[in-house]
This record gives sequence, C-alpha cells and structure tokens, in this order.
Amino acid sequence: MMLRKLVLQASTARRHLYNASTHQSSSPLANLFCKPSFSYSTSSSSSSSQVPNTSFVEHLEDQDDSKHSDSLSTSTISIDRSGLYNPPEHSHGPNSDSELVKHLKGIIKFRGGPISVAEYMEEVLTNPKAGFYINRDVFGAEGDFITSPEVCQMFGEMIGVWVMCLWEQMGQPKRVNLVELGPGRGTLMADLLRGASKFKNFTESLHIHLVECSPALQKLQHLNLKCIDEDNAAENIDRKTVSSLCGAPVSWHATLEQVPSGLPTIFIAHEFFDALPVHQFQRASRGWCEKMVDVTEDSLFRLVLSPQPTPATLYLLKRCKWAATEEIAKLDQIEICPKAMDLTQAIAQRISSDGGGALIIDYGLHGVVSDSLQAIRKHKFVNILDNPGSADLSAYVDFASIRHSAEEASGDVSVHGPITQSQFLSSLGINFRVESLLQNCTDEQAESLRTGYWRLVGEGEAPFWEGPEEHVPIGMGTRYLAMAIVNKKQGIPVSF
Ligand SMILES: C[S@@+](CC[C@H](N)C(=O)[O-])C[C@H]1O[C@@H](n2cnc3c(N)ncnc32)[C@H](O)[C@@H]1O
Repeated sequence: MMLRKLVLQASTARRHLYNASTHQSSSPLANLFCKPSFSYSTSSSSSSSQVPNTSFVEHLEDQDDSKHSDSLSTSTISIDRSGLYNPPEHSHGPNSDSELVKHLKGIIKFRGGPISVAEYMEEVLTNPKAGFYINRDVFGAEGDFITSPEVCQMFGEMIGVWVMCLWEQMGQPKRVNLVELGPGRGTLMADLLRGASKFKNFTESLHIHLVECSPALQKLQHLNLKCIDEDNAAENIDRKTVSSLCGAPVSWHATLEQVPSGLPTIFIAHEFFDALPVHQFQRASRGWCEKMVDVTEDSLFRLVLSPQPTPATLYLLKRCKWAATEEIAKLDQIEICPKAMDLTQAIAQRISSDGGGALIIDYGLHGVVSDSLQAIRKHKFVNILDNPGSADLSAYVDFASIRHSAEEASGDVSVHGPITQSQFLSSLGINFRVESLLQNCTDEQAESLRTGYWRLVGEGEAPFWEGPEEHVPIGMGTRYLAMAIVNKKQGIPVSF
C-alpha cells in the first residue's frame, strides 16, 4: 500500500490510468437550474500505478571522452551524442518497422540529421497517415487512456454551466460560435448540449465548431452529437450538419484558422494543449542545447543534443524572460511549447476582436515546465521512443506561458486562474448535482456516481472505497487546472 502510494506520488500521470467507464448520459443540466431526472455514468476502475518512463535522459555535462566526441570534433557530424543516456529496451529492426517508424527514420536520414522532440511528437500524434490519433478511438478501456468527460457526464454538464454563464455575461448574443479544440469522442460537447437543451435561447444561438485533426474521431463526434446531415443540394448551398441534441449546426475544421471569425466566440480546450508538441532543452557547458531525436547505426531511435542554437531557442529565450531568474537558475532542463504560445495568441486576438472567452483545462504547472513529456500505451507508461504511433505522447501544460501569451496578444483580454479542477467544478455546483442524482438511483449506480465524482474532484485515493485495492479510484481534482481568458468587457468569469 505504502509502496503504491509512493509510486503514485512519483507518477506524473496525466490521465486516469484506469479501466474505462461506460458513459451514458441523457439528463438535462440540473443542479443550478432545475431538479433533474436521473441519469448517470457507470465506471469501473482499476488503477495502474506505473511510473512514467520519462527520466531516461540523464542530465550529464558534456564529456571529453574520445569515443563519444565525434559530434563536436568534426564538421560533418552535427550532433553531440555524448550527453545522453539512451535506454536499450526499445528496438526497431528495419524489417519490423511500422509505416510511421519508417517515415520518421526517412525524415532523419534525408534531412541529414536529427529532428526536434517537437517534430517527433507532432509526427507521432498527428501524422495524417499513421499518427496516434488519426485512425482510431484511443479512449476508454479498450484504448490507451481515459479522460474526465469519459469518466462522468457531470464533467460536460458543469462545463455547460460555465459556458452558459459566460454567454449571459456576454449579453446573451443571438449568434455565438462555440469552439471545442480536440473534442476526442465528442462526449464533453454531447453532455454539455444535453444539459443545456432546455435553455432554448442559449442553444438557438449556437454554431458549434469542432477543431479535430483525426478523421476517425470526427466520425465518432458526428455519431455522439447525434448529427444529421441535411441535404441542401436543391438549394445549391453547402450541406448543413445539425446536432439533434439541441438543433445547433455543427462544423468540423482541422485547425483553428479555418474556424470563421466575426462572431462572439467561446472556446473550450480540455486536454488539448497537452497534446501540442514540446521542444526540450538541456543545460550543457556550452549553454542550453535542444534535445533531438536521432537514429543510431543499428536503427534505434535515441536522443542527442544539438551542437548549436536551434530555431526554437527564440521561444526558449522568450519563455525565460517571463520567468524569474531564480526559477530558471535551478533548472537543468526546460520544456517549451511554441504551438501553445501561438495558439493562445490567436485565441486571445479573436476574443479581443469578437468578444467571448476561453476555458482551458489540463494538467500542468503555473510555471516553467522542466521535463514532463510522457508516453502512455494501454494505460501504462512506456518510453517515448518506443514504437512511435502506438502510444499517446503528452506533456505538462505551462499555464504561466499561456497567461503571458494571452496578455501579450491583447490588452483587451483578462486571464483568470489557474485554479484546481476541484475548485472549478465545486464552485459550479457539482456537489449539488451529484447529490441530486444520488437521490434516485440503484446501489450500483450510486457507487459509480461516487466513484466518478471522486475522480473529478478528489485528491489521491478515495477514502470510501471498499473494493479491491488495485481498483481504488484516484482523484484528479488537484492535478488538473482550469484557466479562463475572457474579453474584459465580460467581467470576471464564474468560478474564478
Ligand atoms: C487528449 S485528446 C482529448 C480529447 C477530449 N478533449 C477529452 O478530454 O476526452 C486530444 C484531442 O485533440 C485532438 N488533437 C490533437 N492534436 C491536434 C491538432 N494538432 N489539431 C487538431 N486536433 C488535435 C486529438 O485528435 C484528440 O481529439
């Protein structure tokens, strides 16, 4: 028991590493607005307390060992292989290489040198042919990890409360873009819309925009939002897709740039920023060097250090300027996410010109992130270089950098938080919601509700758990953080 606790503390688990829940939801949003009819999500859990295998890059100063010094002593080899330990357990014989592995090795070979960890991460997750997210459903017991919306319907319902409150603060505009970045299975949005469906003024104002790179997940979102494709061929206009959960039109986009601007907009990003590619830097005797992914002569991936500054160093400098000197001084490794910085700027500029706000929920830190990139396959942590494309890669979100990026983008927006997910959901009334659902349910349903509730707002192991120790629900309430960016005209958003 103690050992498991220690392992869990050591773990930087991003997600619920449990067996998945069976998610059912059909009720209206209840706690703040009406007495609900009963509906619930069932969850069965089993914790997997693996330690993430992310610390395999040992921090080593440059060595003057002749058998390793080829990278700096010749002009033809452009990398320093000396400073990094590479684990032996991941191997890819050329014959067994997947399409993605061949592709990655091809890039490294034909470009004549290693690629950044960020480029590696981006290819692994979103390569249009073989990226981790592209062709399959990766969520739930049969998948690789489970997220809060999949744990319990109350999560999407509470986000719906927040969105409706913001819409009220915006003056109940007649037309609003509701944009979700990285909607996964579409469960959060489906629960939000079901919950909000009786608030007609709100739902009639909505145009839903889903930013999703995965065609397979787009299909699943279409299904879960109970979308109907209206045939407008006779009118010679584009086919319109409508969610029958609330009658709102739904559109899909591969990137945020494709989402039309010009209307007040509310953005939701749950576990989206953590999937954006990060660059990793290590302090060496010659300064900060970027970690790069290379291929050895025997065809294994390995991490090496860049011999000179890389383009991402500009973002590193920017990030360091936002931090106190002492904060940087104590770090030997720094992780930065330029895509998150740029995306935040784009969101803040839209909020500034069109009105509205954004809610970002993710796991992360309100400060500089050191070394958090991790890989999860089938609910277990694995090496980030092991069989790329078969495991999820994710990194801690640097909320301080999001704050600075938003504030830099526009003086018309204000940034709130981060606060813990537990504080966020509690102030929206999740306690009332769960109480209300518990009043009319079977014992089995009650247990699943309590378990789901604990996972969303609890911290550590559920004290009420009487089942098998290995299935004890682990709370995510303080590991996940919520941040809001709003147009200053809207005032302070609820919960913050
Ligand atoms: C970790 S999942 C989170 C899913 C969902 N929000 C949830 O909490 O269950 C990340 C989602 O973002 C999508 N995604 C990841 N990177 C993306 C990118 N660069 N552009 C668009 N979608 C992306 C994935 O396909 C997936 O739907």
